[in-house]
Amino acid sequence: MAARDAASLLVGLLVLFHTWGVWADVQVNMEDRVEVFRGETAQIACMYTSADGVGGMIIQWFYVTQSGEKQKIYYQDTTMKVVDRGTPFTERISVNGTGATGEVVLTISEVQIEDELEFICLIKSLTDGAGEGRTKLKVFEIPNLPTIEGVQTGISVNKDSPSMIGTCEVKNGFPKPNITWYRNNTPLRSAQDVVKIVPSITTESSGLFSAKSELSMKVVKEDKDDSFYCEVTFFVPGGTRMTETNRINITVYYPSTAVSIWVESPKGKIKEGDSIVLRCHGNGNTPSLISIMHDGKSSDTNMLVLENATRLDSGDYLCTSTDTDTFEEISANTSVFVNYLDPAMVMPNDTIVVDQGQELNATCNASSTLQTHTVWFKDEKEVSKNQRLILNNNTFDTAGTYVCVVTVPEIEGMETRGKLHVNVQGPPEIMEPENVEMESFQTTVNVSCKVRGFPAPSVTWTTSDGKVLKTASQTETEEGIWSVVRVTVTSDITVFCNASNDHGTDAVTFSIKATTNTTTPATTTSTTIFSATVKAETAIPPKKIKKEGSGVIIAVLIICILLLAILGSVLYFLYKKGKICGRSGKQDLTKEKSNKDNIVVEMKSDNTEEAVLLGVNGEKQSSNDQGGEYLDLQK
Ligand SMILES: *[C@@H]1O[C@H](CO)[C@@H](O)[C@H](O)[C@H]1NC(C)=O
Ligand SMILES: *[C@@H]1O[C@H](CO)[C@@H](O)[C@H](O)[C@H]1NC(C)=O
Ligand SMILES: *[C@@H]1O[C@H](CO)[C@@H](O)[C@H](O)[C@H]1NC(C)=O
Ligand SMILES: *[C@@H]1O[C@H](CO)[C@@H](O)[C@H](O)[C@H]1NC(C)=O
Repeated sequence: MAARDAASLLVGLLVLFHTWGVWADVQVNMEDRVEVFRGETAQIACMYTSADGVGGMIIQWFYVTQSGEKQKIYYQDTTMKVVDRGTPFTERISVNGTGATGEVVLTISEVQIEDELEFICLIKSLTDGAGEGRTKLKVFEIPNLPTIEGVQTGISVNKDSPSMIGTCEVKNGFPKPNITWYRNNTPLRSAQDVVKIVPSITTESSGLFSAKSELSMKVVKEDKDDSFYCEVTFFVPGGTRMTETNRINITVYYPSTAVSIWVESPKGKIKEGDSIVLRCHGNGNTPSLISIMHDGKSSDTNMLVLENATRLDSGDYLCTSTDTDTFEEISANTSVFVNYLDPAMVMPNDTIVVDQGQELNATCNASSTLQTHTVWFKDEKEVSKNQRLILNNNTFDTAGTYVCVVTVPEIEGMETRGKLHVNVQGPPEIMEPENVEMESFQTTVNVSCKVRGFPAPSVTWTTSDGKVLKTASQTETEEGIWSVVRVTVTSDITVFCNASNDHGTDAVTFSIKATTNTTTPATTTSTTIFSATVKAETAIPPKKIKKEGSGVIIAVLIICILLLAILGSVLYFLYKKGKICGRSGKQDLTKEKSNKDNIVVEMKSDNTEEAVLLGVNGEKQSSNDQGGEYLDLQK
């Protein structure tokens, strides 16, 4: 209390002296400004001199309030140091130095935004009067990173006033940060009716500043690739700094000035059956109505698909684009040509009958919009590389089906085919009867007759005694007729195959020999079997096949067994003597085996009668294979 009263008294005195203007002898020196980041510690130095030395001074610190009044925060004399109570600085200030050196420093810790004030250092000597100095404290805060937000919708070039491009924002800076807009690295300034920049500043409850800036612009088509960003500048102790936002693009809607229409697929020449895809595009990007028209029909999209195209789809296709804003129309067209290949026309049509020795002349034509290539084939073999097919001196060999293939070399897969059946007219011709090796032991044989000729000959089968045989099967082939008859063989028999048509007849004779064999009870229970030999007597020289039957083999087998018995004795004998003679048993066996073979062959060729006789008593009568083997050996 006492101190306070004393201080009040002093102030009163000072004011009094000041009024009198008698104290100018104390010189006080201070910096104009001290800069510091919020939260840090500020130091404000106060230096003073006096003609009578610096001892015994009264030192006081004040700050200037918003209303311009001086508010004391500190008092010091040679006896005491007092921090004023109840000021915003009471807890945060200290002053070092006793004042004996002519310098004191006011230290403010945890500097606040509100601390941005003017501070006064007042030095008073009781003898020489007083002096004061002033320092402004500047506080700084680095703002948050700036943000940018562009409009999401597209911007039309048709707008009369500037359209919103985007907003930049930077928060919590001190002092006020500045925002500058850039387009493609060039700063933007407001310009009447073209560029509009609206800045705004908000003071947060913390006392910090947040800045915002909105950019509006009139856009033209060329701006479609522009990028925009903001630069933020702000003060820091001793200078300025800046940061940038990222870049944004804008979508510019501009109307088309031209459209184009084209065939997207197929690439190259088009043929009937293809799927044609037509596309139309404008060079603008404003919403517009696009339609493709042809022959009175239209599609309301920018794509037209013609499935399974025909020659009727050839022609001009018109694409029209209508701007939905201005209703302006622009159009373009393209022409489409669908190539075709008509079905092949063969002349004469389908079937032709020619006489033997005559010439045949046929053509194969297919009309097309493109060059064609024609090839004639018979049985997959090329016979002519021409539209025209000429066959000289026709025979049964030239009869058959001819196919002409017309292709378009320019387009793969374009092909048509025509057919021509050629019949060669002439008397029947019985083809070489098949080798009838019918020595199977059966009571019936199949005899067949292949006949060429046109018109198709009729075939009849008769026996030598005039009996007509029923045909078992008759097949009509490309060349003529294939007729089969089933003959029951009880004794030797002759069968005629007679073929005839309008142009003549042909006949062939088959001689079938019946062989009767009887079995012995020793082997099987069967009684009678037949062996038929067929002899064709016209087309080819008769083929005689002598057949002894499998009885022969039985005979050989018996002889073999006998020989083996002898061989066994011999081998045993040799084995006994083996050690003495020094010969191996194996060598003996081989030698004996070859001897045996010789004997078999000899027996067969020398004594056939006996072999046959033995065969009758044999058991493997049905084995044809063995019989064949035997015949081979005989030859
Ligand atoms: C912000 O702009 C104002 C007005 O142009 C200017 O006085 C101030 O120095 C600028 N601040 C910065 C940090 O550049
Ligand atoms: C902006 O557009 C450019 C070119 O048109 C493109 O390369 C870039 O990726 C776009 N950037 C953004 C953020 O969309
Ligand atoms: C003979 O012909 C008939 C009727 O065509 C057939 O069923 C039979 O299998 C044939 N026989 C022989 C041995 O070819
Ligand atoms: C069948 O041909 C033979 C031999 O040429 C002949 O003898 C016979 O009379 C002919 N039969 C018929 C029915 O034509």
